[in-house]
Amino acid sequence: GCGTTTTGGDTGSPAPSGSTAPSESAQPSGEQTASFTTVEEGKLHMSTNATFPPYEMTTDDGSFEGIDVEVAQAIAEKLGLELVVDDMGFDAALTAVQTGQSDIAMAGITVTDEREEVMDFSESYATGVQVVIVKEDSPIQTIDDLANADMIGCQAATTGYIYASDTPENGGYGEDHVTAYDSGALAVMALVNDQIDAVIIDNEPAKAFVEQYEGLKILETPWVEEEYAIGVAKGNTALLDAINSAMDELKADGTFQAIVDKYITAE
Ligand code: ARG
Repeated sequence: GCGTTTTGGDTGSPAPSGSTAPSESAQPSGEQTASFTTVEEGKLHMSTNATFPPYEMTTDDGSFEGIDVEVAQAIAEKLGLELVVDDMGFDAALTAVQTGQSDIAMAGITVTDEREEVMDFSESYATGVQVVIVKEDSPIQTIDDLANADMIGCQAATTGYIYASDTPENGGYGEDHVTAYDSGALAVMALVNDQIDAVIIDNEPAKAFVEQYEGLKILETPWVEEEYAIGVAKGNTALLDAINSAMDELKADGTFQAIVDKYITAE
């Protein structure tokens, strides 16, 4: 990183691209940078769905932790803003940036062509893999066996749900064979209670959930590989540039990796 930061801090709704300067005092001296406004002056609102360990989860005292939360915190600090975490449904977390309720959406969000049509994404900061969780003694022991599953559970609106509920011609299992749950944790609970045969979810939360219960396993063949990125309103390039620069700095100075290492132990 070259030490360039872009500052927010004006009142009003999110900046359309090319919008003009926030408060003079917030401008870094000697740097000519595009500026942006945030939903709330001095704050960076992050919409998320805090049911997704180790990226975002709710602690016993009701606060938020996880990789996304800490990285967003570090980005906010670089931008001279105070992070506000807004917890909501996963689909709502994506919509919030599109409707100007939040500045960034950070929720282990996979970049997809469909989502890129309605929002803009930062550079990718992590790789996710969709995996399959079954009971250890399940007749489903390979990805091919999934075609025999009566019911697969996924978190609603996630890529896991989108792929799994697609038609068999498109590599899915059909809507009739997929149940959408409010969270991955609820889908896993349904699996534990024998209400469904398998759960399709991202690999890191899968590991966390499998550790919580006896008798669950992750099938060895990974299903689909994906990239996670931070979402902003479509066209908000000033904020996006600032986020990408802040992220570059956090990667260069080791902060980013230190946060990841805190939550994910290398295998
Ligand atoms: N990576 C998947 C997706 O983008 C799942 C993300 C779910 N995130 C969450 N915080 N619940 O669809």
